[in-house]
Amino acid sequence: MRLRNVPGAREKLQNHPNFITKPENLKGKWSEYFKNSDPLHVEIGSGKGKFITTLANQNSDINYIAMEKFATVLLKLIKKTPEEGLPNLAVINCEAELIAQCFDPGEISKIYLNFSDPWPRKRHAKRRLTNIRFLQVYSKLLKDDGTISFKTDNQDLFDFSISQFELAGFLLQDITYDLHKSSLLEGNITTEYEERFISQGLPIYGLTAYKNSGK
Ligand SMILES: C[S@@+](CC[C@H](N)C(=O)[O-])C[C@H]1O[C@@H](n2cnc3c(N)ncnc32)[C@H](O)[C@@H]1O
Repeated sequence: MRLRNVPGAREKLQNHPNFITKPENLKGKWSEYFKNSDPLHVEIGSGKGKFITTLANQNSDINYIAMEKFATVLLKLIKKTPEEGLPNLAVINCEAELIAQCFDPGEISKIYLNFSDPWPRKRHAKRRLTNIRFLQVYSKLLKDDGTISFKTDNQDLFDFSISQFELAGFLLQDITYDLHKSSLLEGNITTEYEERFISQGLPIYGLTAYKNSGK
């Protein structure tokens, strides 16, 4: 956990009711943790958390997990929750590479990838969170009717991701090259990065990937 130069940060995070210190202990047991069998939605790379905390407030019948590799960023996320925490939110400081240590196959209903780091150099393509090696892991962790929602400002990453989703056997729907000028905008919850790009007049690319293509 990287919490250098943030005084009292470790305590703040670990004392927060939504923070899970050892998410690997809840692998396959998230419904026990939430004390219900509501669907589990996971945002990978949740950043400062505007998106997932808004959703958790809006949908009490869905359990949300904010997954982020930098603990310092999670400090900003927990500030968006009440002191007593949200009953349907868990916050985990976890690297996407380790996601299979935190969830059982078929445990997740939906994964959100919002403005994932683009890693533009070809030699870094394996680090992109939509690289097929990640998609194959997500696919195992998703339920049969599970989906992945992906948004980005980066057209190169978007085009790359489409090819990777197809290679991994996902069915793609609701593909848009300008989300904010499309009919798909209704119900869209913006993220911190998305707000920044919209204010610059940049298009947002988006799609929904279905684990099972029905073939
Ligand atoms: C560009 S920011 C986007 C943040 C937020 N989703 C948004 O749209 O405002 C990417 C976030 O993903 C996190 N991240 C990047 N790679 C990750 C990984 N491999 N595992 C977990 N989190 C990661 C970064 O630390 C950062 O907070």
